[in-house]
This record gives sequence, structure tokens and C-alpha cells, in this order.
Amino acid sequence: MDAPPIPAVQTFGLTRMYGHIAALSGLDLVVNKGDLFGFIGSNGAGKTTTLRILATFLAPSAGTAQILGHDVLRDADAVRHVIGYMPDFFGVYKDMEVTEYLDFFGACYKIPTAQREKTVNDVLELVGLIEKRGALIGALSRGMQQRLGLARVLIHDPQLLLLDEPASGLDPRARIEMMAILQELQRLGKTIIISSHILSELQTLCNRVAIIEKGRLIYSGPVQGVRDQMSQGRVVWVRVSSDQAQAVELLKVRPEITEVGTSDGEIKVTLASQDTDHSIVADILVRGGARLIELREDEIGLEEVFMRVTRGETQ
Ligand SMILES: Nc1ncnc2c1ncn2[C@@H]1O[C@H](COP(=O)(O)OP(=O)(O)OP(=O)(O)O)[C@@H](O)[C@H]1O
Ligand SMILES: [Mg+2]
Repeated sequence: MDAPPIPAVQTFGLTRMYGHIAALSGLDLVVNKGDLFGFIGSNGAGKTTTLRILATFLAPSAGTAQILGHDVLRDADAVRHVIGYMPDFFGVYKDMEVTEYLDFFGACYKIPTAQREKTVNDVLELVGLIEKRGALIGALSRGMQQRLGLARVLIHDPQLLLLDEPASGLDPRARIEMMAILQELQRLGKTIIISSHILSELQTLCNRVAIIEKGRLIYSGPVQGVRDQMSQGRVVWVRVSSDQAQAVELLKVRPEITEVGTSDGEIKVTLASQDTDHSIVADILVRGGARLIELREDEIGLEEVFMRVTRGETQ
């Protein structure tokens, strides 16, 4: 049996007010050790606010958080040693060379001079920038600069990475490269929280996700669970060549079906449960003597589910 998960991050009623506006309202979140955790929400949902509190850059108005056993309010210094925080916007020194820049941050973390060259090379290797070690930062592409930002937060070998939209503004290829690096880091044993406003971007990358909206947690759990928990019953569309009204009557009386309607010559059937096999619809119709000529299920994409959730159409 798998060992029970160990929490790396736990927040307890995390709240942050800006005047009368609650950027975060009582957020309770758990991220386990080894997770590649997707933190998803639309613009203004409270992602950056949460990550800044976890990174000890911002104090909560109420509640607190524990990071690898350290409290963000009481043990801020200890927290800073175990995390690597990559903000959504960060400046890089364009006139500096790649290695100079990383060496500087290595010195900030008091890595001894003798070790620093190896550490810098190791992180450059990890983010795929070793060939650019002597380049001026200003001459790097956007994707390379993002990877350099990642290298910077890896320099003190933190156990937890807090990455605020690390793939934003990157082209598809650079995104894929960034995602591959994150997977490698997870394989190396890091716990990673990555924020994004694009649910589908994280669905293959992350093992768990949380969705927040207006500072509140809407969902937290495995990616596969999002669609199941969020979508309200599956929808099946059918077409019959026999009497449509009679087919509707056959379906209406069944407990497996919550709603039956018609639209454009098609019958719209909403199943009561995510687990109901849609072949039951065909079964009911055929047994009842209707002539079924078409049956298809509405595929609700994750993005559609996300849009519905954040528009407040579910829950
Ligand atoms: N310094 C600030 N002063 C006032 N309000 C703020 C401040 N920072 C954030 N907010 C507000 O808090 C809410 C949450 O903002 P936050 O930046 O955490 O969202 P986000 O999920 O990171 O959004 P985005 O996807 O746009 O980065 C927003 O309503 C925002 O306007
Ligand atoms: Mg943000």
C-alpha cells in the first residue's frame, strides 16, 4: 500500500483584505509532498495573493499557513530557506551574464564560493541553459529568460517551488519545454505549486489541482475529478425516426434521467449521474419500440467546465 501523503503546504482560513475587498476569503488548501500542484483561477481570483503569502512577502489579514512544518508568520526565515518563489513579473539584469546573475543569487544564499560554480552549472543544466552560460541576459529569448528565472529559484536547492504563471507569455514550444523541466523537478523530489488561469494547460502536467474564484476554494483534488464534480450530469442527444413525443415519454419516467427536452428535432437527455452509461438511453428507446437513428454524448471540455464554474453556474 502507498504511504499516506505528507502535507508540504497547509493553509488555515487564509484571508487577505484590501480595504473592503477580500482578495482571499478563508482559504483552506493542502498540497502534499511530491505534488505537482496546479493552482487555477481566472484573473483576480487570488492566486498571486496566495503565493505571496506562502512566500512570506505578504501578511494575511487572518488565518495562517504552514510550509514543511514552518509557520509563515512565526517562522518566516525558515520558510524562506525551503521555498523558491518565482513571481509573475520579475526583472532580470539585462547587462549581466547568465553565470554572473546566478552566482550573485548563490552568494545571497551564502553558498560558499568554492561550491558556487558547480551549483550554477547544475541548475543551468537542469533548465537547459548550459550552452548560454556566457551569454548576456538581454540577448536571451523570453522563454530562456523564464527558464533563467527558474534556475534562480533553484539555486539554494529548495524543497518547495512556488511558481506564479511561469509559462505566461511563452509560445507553445517554450511552454512545453517549461512543463518538461517541471516534470523533471518533480521526479527529483521537489514539491511544486504552479499557478495558471488555463485549466487545460495543467491537466496533463499536474497530479492535483485547486480551483479558486473570488478568493474562495471551489475545487481541490485530482485533475480527473474536476469534470466529474463540476459538470451537472452528462447530456446525451438523440434523434428518432418514430414519434418523438412518444420517445420523450419513454425517457421521462426513468429514474436514471433527470431531464428530457427537445430542440431542433433532437431530444436532449440529461443523465442523473456521471456514472450512468449512456447506452441506457438507447436501451430504453429500443425496448419501448422507438426507432433510434442517432445518439451522441455532449463532450464537455475541461475549459468549458472551468468557464461554467467561474461563472457560478454550478455548485
Ligand atoms: N496591492 C493591492 N491593492 C489592492 N487590491 C489588490 C492588490 N493586490 C491584489 N488586489 C486585488 O486582490 C484580488 C486578487 O488579486 P491577485 O493578484 O491575487 O489575483 P490573481 O489570481 O493572481 O490574478 P491574475 O490572474 O490576474 O494574476 C484582485 O481583486 C485584486 O484587484
Ligand atoms: Mg496573479
